[in-house]
Amino acid sequence: MILRIFDDAEELYEVGANIIANLICTTSEANLGLATGTSPVGIYRKLVEVCQRRGLSFRNVSTYNLDEYVGLPKSHPNSFYREMENNLFQHIDIDRSNVHIPDGEAGDLRAECERYNALLARVQPLDLQVLGIGENGHIGFNEPNHELSSGCHIVSLSEETRTINSIAFDDLDKVPTRAITMGVGDILKSKLVLFIAMGDRKAEIVKRAFQGPVTTMCPGSLLQLHSNVVALLDTQAASLLS
Ligand code: F6R
Repeated sequence: MILRIFDDAEELYEVGANIIANLICTTSEANLGLATGTSPVGIYRKLVEVCQRRGLSFRNVSTYNLDEYVGLPKSHPNSFYREMENNLFQHIDIDRSNVHIPDGEAGDLRAECERYNALLARVQPLDLQVLGIGENGHIGFNEPNHELSSGCHIVSLSEETRTINSIAFDDLDKVPTRAITMGVGDILKSKLVLFIAMGDRKAEIVKRAFQGPVTTMCPGSLLQLHSNVVALLDTQAASLLS
């Protein structure tokens, strides 16, 4: 694992954006795994700037998002579809037919998981997976559990995750109870994991994930099994690492 720790958030964003931009430059048809949440937002903003500055195009890039809430329409301000549109897609020249996000509105959710699994199987290993971590250690929406699924599946969100995410919904009751997520096997298959964690609230889980035992009770700890992780942390998130 390559660990980089930054005092300056803008510098972290710039480094993360350049890793993605360089990959797009050097890979003829790059397949990117993308994450939502607050952690990658600054990197996506910088990526847009870097691409404009360097004249980089997303025309030959395909993207595969990690997860989506079940039951939220795409137009909902908190759907991951909307987040990706707002934070990245509407600012770049990506062909929308190359954008892939699990459909949380699908009538048959099991069939939707099978469709997404088949889609991923055609392109895996992804060239890069952008990844955040939940305060309980979830990656994607793979919540701590005695068993974890390898492929795309439906999950029940933990009360802790729903409570943390309720900030964006202004009411806990409005937070969906389920999500579709890539599995941990999908995440670990990626050639490169670009991991981002920022802020004091991530310090404890970063310590557990990187320096604690590898356990399904902290899905982020499975990253210790991956041979190519670049972790970008700010000083607060890294503060408990020894
Ligand atoms: C988002 C995702 C989640 C988030 C995690 C951290 O697509 O899969 O695992 O990465 O919940 O969220 P933030 O970055 O908001 O702290």
